[in-house]
Amino acid sequence: MFLLDGKSLSKKIKSTLSKKVEEILSIDHRPPHLVAILVGNNPASQTYVSAKEKACDEIGFKSSIIRLDKNISQEDLINKISEINLNNDIDGLIVQLPLPKHIDEYSIISAISVDKDVDGFHPMNLGKMVIGESCFLPATPYGIITLIEEYGIETNGKNCLVIGRSNIVGRPISILMSRNSKFANATVTLAHSRTKNIEKLTEGADIIIVALGKPNFINKEMVKKGVVIIDVGINRIESNKTKSGWRLVGDVDFESVKQKCSFITPVPGGVGPMTIVSLLKNTMLSYERKNNLNI
Ligand code: GUN
Repeated sequence: MFLLDGKSLSKKIKSTLSKKVEEILSIDHRPPHLVAILVGNNPASQTYVSAKEKACDEIGFKSSIIRLDKNISQEDLINKISEINLNNDIDGLIVQLPLPKHIDEYSIISAISVDKDVDGFHPMNLGKMVIGESCFLPATPYGIITLIEEYGIETNGKNCLVIGRSNIVGRPISILMSRNSKFANATVTLAHSRTKNIEKLTEGADIIIVALGKPNFINKEMVKKGVVIIDVGINRIESNKTKSGWRLVGDVDFESVKQKCSFITPVPGGVGPMTIVSLLKNTMLSYERKNNLNI
């Protein structure tokens, strides 16, 4: 069994990005700038946004967090987004999800400039992804594809089971894995909460990508020998072994499944760091496009 080590790969990519920033600064350009809008005080969202800010700091990107009250109106939020869209000193804009219930997510995502949508959630970017045009890929699927490429995982003609159909992970990764390209060409099945007999599907899968948010959902009885497992889940469970009283686990029972896998992502340290670094790559891409740089 080999670990798909997102932590070390993300470090390598960050170091490349950091060198690019040094080159940018050496020719008297400003650094790339990522803005995150955080509405309300969802603790998980706060943690994710802080992690993105820290990663920007590490590689020399400028980052700003705009914290807005949970009761902000949809109109005021869209006005804020429009202001950022027009600011030439900002390269990437993300609005952390989920949003409060009174705000329509689709309207907000659609208000972000397609050229600054480094999350790749705008319908134009998603549409381009579907037809294989150049676009910002959503960060988590982009991170998964990067891991697969780095470790040279054979995907051609393989049965790839994606579990979870969210717009952020499951649906886009199912499209990317079925593309006609080197580290794709898989036969993809997209399973979700209404899927029947999921064990039948997991047993037949060569590659399983699971993004469900259910701790230890996949166990060793459900998978075949040699399977590749990509675990997108990040779940907090109680633990009497840690000071905090909780620990992070994925959607896969790692200890039981690992003996049967050819490759598996750990949680933490697998897909999570790759998501953040993919967002940084998209921000750099936006910056380069805007400044006609190809560093
Ligand atoms: N909420 C959970 N994941 C994400 C993400 O990748 N981007 C944004 N904007 N919100 C999220």
